[in-house]
Amino acid sequence: MEFVRSIPELRAAVRSARSHGKTIGLVPTMGAMHEGHYSLMRRARLECGFVVVSLFVNPTQFGPNEDLSRYPRDLEGDAAGSAREGVDMLFIPTTDEVYPANHKTSVAVSGLTERLCGRSRPSHFQGVTTVVAKLFGMAQPDRAYFGEKDYQQLQVIRRMTRDLDIPVEVIGCPIVRESDGVAMSSRNRYLSAHDRVAARVLSRSLAGARQRFAAGERSVEALVNPVRAEISGATGVALDYAELLDASELSEIDRVVAPAVLAVAAKVGPARLIDNTVLDPTTGA
Ligand code: PAJ
Repeated sequence: MEFVRSIPELRAAVRSARSHGKTIGLVPTMGAMHEGHYSLMRRARLECGFVVVSLFVNPTQFGPNEDLSRYPRDLEGDAAGSAREGVDMLFIPTTDEVYPANHKTSVAVSGLTERLCGRSRPSHFQGVTTVVAKLFGMAQPDRAYFGEKDYQQLQVIRRMTRDLDIPVEVIGCPIVRESDGVAMSSRNRYLSAHDRVAARVLSRSLAGARQRFAAGERSVEALVNPVRAEISGATGVALDYAELLDASELSEIDRVVAPAVLAVAAKVGPARLIDNTVLDPTTGA
């Protein structure tokens, strides 16, 4: 696996791989990697001849009081893990490489970014879409891989790519969970043993809603209210939101008559955690 820090080096490697007929796959990450990240790399490895993983803790997607300065960093572990997955190139740009002085452009998607995490993290998605658009321009991949764990992020990136006619196929990959159901996240590293047990309430409450949905419940209130109650009632957990929205527009609905996403966010100890599940009335699951 090759390490690259500059955009010209990345471009040269991608150009060379493409001239050999290889499909270029990009997996954007902020590092502190876990099985969720590795699952994206494995899928990219299966589908692409040349796999680039970017590792960049993007400052513009963190709010002023968020965890940018203490975001977990583990370059050695990340490099070993990426090499193990057969990644061809790890792109680790500096902040100056990505945002040189006088950088004045940003990309914003409206509507889809207003609810859920957009409400409690107002500038977050603009930071995400800006850096992802830039990474697409830097690596010029044919395909890019994102996790459904960050469901809103995935929908926002899909819409940006479509609306800006960016010739990249955006591929969503399933949520990878720990054996007790907790969705894997770099931020799980912030959790004490006690917090880690408390964190189970997120996936447990979603599983409860899935059961009610499978039993035929289609009312949004009847599906969401118990989720809110269960998370709010958990000790050491502060609910941010629990919402059941249209799966592609992220708009409000009263009943589930088309695929819908049940998304939750909560503060558990020092960490803000998110999770979600898609409810599809065409399959009942
Ligand atoms: P990061 O949180 O490092 O996540 C990188 C990718 O891994 C994202 O596409 C995310 O959805 C996926 N991922 C994280 N946990 C997962 C899990 N448990 N199962 C499946 N996929 C999972 O998301 C970001 O970085 C950044 O916002 C980024 C897109 C890199 C832009 O800076």
